[in-house]
Parts: sequence; structure tokens; C-alpha cells
Amino acid sequence: MKISSAEFVMSNSDVAKCPKNNLPEYAFIGRSNVGKSSLINMLTGRKSLAKTSGRPGKTQLINHFVINKNWFLVDLPGYGYARVSKSSKKVFQKFITTYFSKRTQLVSAFVLVDCRHEPQKIDLEFMQWLGENQIPFSIIFTKADKLSKTKLPQNIEAYINEMLKYWEEMPNYFITSSSNGLGKDDVLNYIEEINQQLASS
Ligand code: GTP
Ligand code: MG
Repeated sequence: MKISSAEFVMSNSDVAKCPKNNLPEYAFIGRSNVGKSSLINMLTGRKSLAKTSGRPGKTQLINHFVINKNWFLVDLPGYGYARVSKSSKKVFQKFITTYFSKRTQLVSAFVLVDCRHEPQKIDLEFMQWLGENQIPFSIIFTKADKLSKTKLPQNIEAYINEMLKYWEEMPNYFITSSSNGLGKDDVLNYIEEINQQLASS
């Protein structure tokens, strides 16, 4: 898919105030600092469309972007990070779960995980929650540029093995790097295929 336009629409924490248009919507979610906002910039080819930072907790609101005037891309705050208290660290911010439960335009989520790390409980639990709520998702492994050519497939394989303890099949997944553009076409073509199916149904 060619990106001919990518525009910021709005930020808010209230799902009821999200755009009313019935465009297909794709949301990027994952732990703080995993690279959600960077990936959005890489996919759209707009360097600072979504705000990024080396410090976790940069994205605090639900951010809507409209792509090619016909689908929404959503940048969400990270979970698993809270300055407030340890007990709330595990809790997904309420408005994030409300967003996933209530947003009828949502077609699919992309759960981002850092390919350098072993499977994290919080990610596995979040995917479990998506499954229980029948919210379709794919996994996106981020920061592939940070691993060697031998370590990367080893980590992916270990992740798949862990997932297969809980899931009958490995969900659809992508391997990406916002630094060198790896995975860009795969993710965009996947979204385009779904959009075409929706448009013809
Ligand atoms: P929050 O908004 O805080 O939840 O974080 P986020 O998931 O949006 O992460 P963000 O895109 O702000 O990136 C966090 C840090 O990781 C930044 O310093 C990015 O430059 C870096 N980063 C993100 N993606 C990549 C990548 O693919 N490769 C490398 N090397 N660094 C990356
Ligand atoms: Mg962010």
C-alpha cells in the first residue's frame, strides 16, 4: 500500500469522543517504550507524526490518525508502566480496555513486543484478554535491528513456543524495525488486504 496522506485527527482519553466516522481502524498497543509511536512514523513515512521518546510513558492518550483518508491508525499509551504506584503497574489503564471493548470500528489490534526480551507476563495476559474479548490481533516484534541475524530467529522461535502453550495456533505476526524499515510492506499490505475485503463485503 502506498501512503498518500497521513493526518493527525485528535487525542483524547474518552472512547465516546473518538471519531464517529465508520472507517476501519487498527490500533497499536504494547508495553511502554516498545516502539508503538516509532512504528507508526515508520509505516506512514512521516518522521514525527506520532510523538516518540526514550523515556517510557510518552504517549498518554488515544491518538487517531487518518491514513489515505480511508482508514484510522491509532497510537495508544503503553501498559505496564506507571509512575504512580507498583500495584497499578499491572493494571491496564481503564480507558485502554474500554477503548478495546467499546470501539466498534476497530478491525484489528497490533500487539507490539520487543524482540530482544523473553515473553513477558503482561503481554501474554493482555493477549489472553484480547482473545477472551474476541478482539482480533496480530503480534509485531519490534527493534529487530538490535539483534544479530542468528539471535533474532532464535528469539522469535522461543516466543512462538511460549505462545503455543496457551494458544492452539501462533497468531499472525510481523518482524519490524523502525530504524531500517524492516516489515513495513508486510504490515501495510496486510492492512490493505483487510480493507479491500471489508470494502467488497
Ligand atoms: P510510549 O508512548 O511511552 O508507550 O512508548 P512507545 O511504545 O510509543 O515507544 P517509542 O516509539 O516512543 O520508542 C521508544 C524508544 O525506542 C525511542 O527511543 C525510539 O527511538 C526507540 N525505538 C523504537 N523503535 C525502534 C526500533 O525499531 N529500533 C531501534 N533501534 N530503536 C527503536
Ligand atoms: Mg508512544
